[in-house]
Amino acid sequence: MIIKNIPYGKQNITQEDIDAVTKILKGDFLTQGPTILEFEKQFSNYIGCKYSVAVSNGTAALHLATLALGVKNGDKVITTPITFAASANCVKYCDGEVVFSDIDPNTYLIDLAEVEALLLKNPKGTFKGIIPVNFAGRAVDLEKLREIANRYDLWILEDACHSPGGYFIDSKKVKQNCGNGFYADLAIFSFHPVKHNANGEGGMITTNDEILYNKLLELRTHGITKSPSKFTNSIDFACGKEGEINYPGWYMEMQNLGFNYRITDFQAALGLSQLSRANVGLERRKQIAQKYNYAFQGEAFIKGQSCSIEGHAYHLYVLEVENRLGLYNYLKQKNIFAQVHYIPCHLMPYYKENGWKEGDFPKSENYYKFCISIPMFPTMSDEDVDFVIKGIKSFYA
Ligand SMILES: Cc1ncc(COP(=O)(O)O)c(C=O)c1O
Repeated sequence: MIIKNIPYGKQNITQEDIDAVTKILKGDFLTQGPTILEFEKQFSNYIGCKYSVAVSNGTAALHLATLALGVKNGDKVITTPITFAASANCVKYCDGEVVFSDIDPNTYLIDLAEVEALLLKNPKGTFKGIIPVNFAGRAVDLEKLREIANRYDLWILEDACHSPGGYFIDSKKVKQNCGNGFYADLAIFSFHPVKHNANGEGGMITTNDEILYNKLLELRTHGITKSPSKFTNSIDFACGKEGEINYPGWYMEMQNLGFNYRITDFQAALGLSQLSRANVGLERRKQIAQKYNYAFQGEAFIKGQSCSIEGHAYHLYVLEVENRLGLYNYLKQKNIFAQVHYIPCHLMPYYKENGWKEGDFPKSENYYKFCISIPMFPTMSDEDVDFVIKGIKSFYA
C-alpha cells in the first residue's frame, strides 16, 4: 500500500499551467516580455488596485516597497512578531529599525490598541510607518489602522502574502480586498509554492499611487530609466556628438541605486494561468476551513480557533492546542505534516542581538506555545480532510 503524504500546504500544477509555461519557453521572451505586463494587469483586476509591479519574490517586493517609501538609516517601523521574518527584515535592508508590537490573541493579528499605545508613548515623528500582516489569510482592519496612521503621519505597507482574495468590510459596508490600496500605501504578495498563486518564486507590489508605482518600476531594474523626459545628461553627451535634437535609441540612465528584482516571463505565465483558477482555489480553502471549524468546535483540546471569519483567505488553518509537540509528532507518524507559524520574530537570534528578549510580547509568545498549522490546500480531497480530523481527534482521545 502506498502511504500518502499530506503536507500543510501544496501547489497545484495543471496541464494548462504546463502548456502556458511551455508556450513562453518556445517564444521570443524569457524575461522582460509582454507576459509580465499581462500578469500585472490581470493581478490588478483580481485585487482591485490601479497598479501592480511583479518582482522575483515576496521578500524583494518588501525590500522595494520599503525603499520606495523612503526607509533610511535609523527610521523606526512597526510590525508584528507573528510573521515570516521577511516582513521585518525589509526594514533592516534599508538600515531602518524594526519595532515589534504584540498581537491580539483572538485574531493573531497585530493589536491596533497596542500599536496606538506604542505611538502615544513616544513623541510624534518617532515612527515612519507600519507593516501589518494579514496572518494566515485574515485581513487587518486597515480602515482603523489608516485612521491611527494619519494621526501619526505613518505610511502603511500591507503584507498580504497570505491573503489574495481576502477582504474586510469597512464602516461604510464596502468590501475592501486585501492589497487593493484603498487604505494602505503599498501592499505586497508572494507566489512561493505554498501560497495561493504558485509561480515557483515570485512576488507582486500593488498600489493606487502613481508616484510610488513609477519609483518601483525603476528600482526593480537597477534604478534605470529609459524615459527621455527624466534624463539629466545632455543630448550631446548621449549622442557623442553635437547638434542632435533627440536622445539616441540606446540611451538610458541609472539615476538611483536599484536592483535586478525582475520576474521571468515563464514565471509570469505560470502566475497568469494560476490566477485564472484563484477563485476556485479560494472557495475550496473555505470549504476545508468549514469542515475543520465544524469538526473541532467545542473540543476540549482546542485552546483557541479562528473559525468562520468573513473575508478570511485561509492560506493557513491554525489551531491552538494542548501538547502541540505531541500532536505534531503523532501526525508525522501518520504522514500528516503539520507546521508551526510562526516562531515569534523578535526571538530569532538575529533580533535578540538587536535587543529584543523573551517576555517582550507575552501574547505572541504564549500563542507560539500552542499554535499548529494543519494541512490546508485546495487539492486536499474530503477524504484527506477527514483523515486529518480523525488523526487529531484520535491523538486526544
Ligand atoms: C507573511 C510573509 N511575508 C513575506 C514572505 C516572503 O515571501 P517570499 O518567500 O516570496 O520571499 C512570506 C513568505 O513566506 C510570508 O509568508
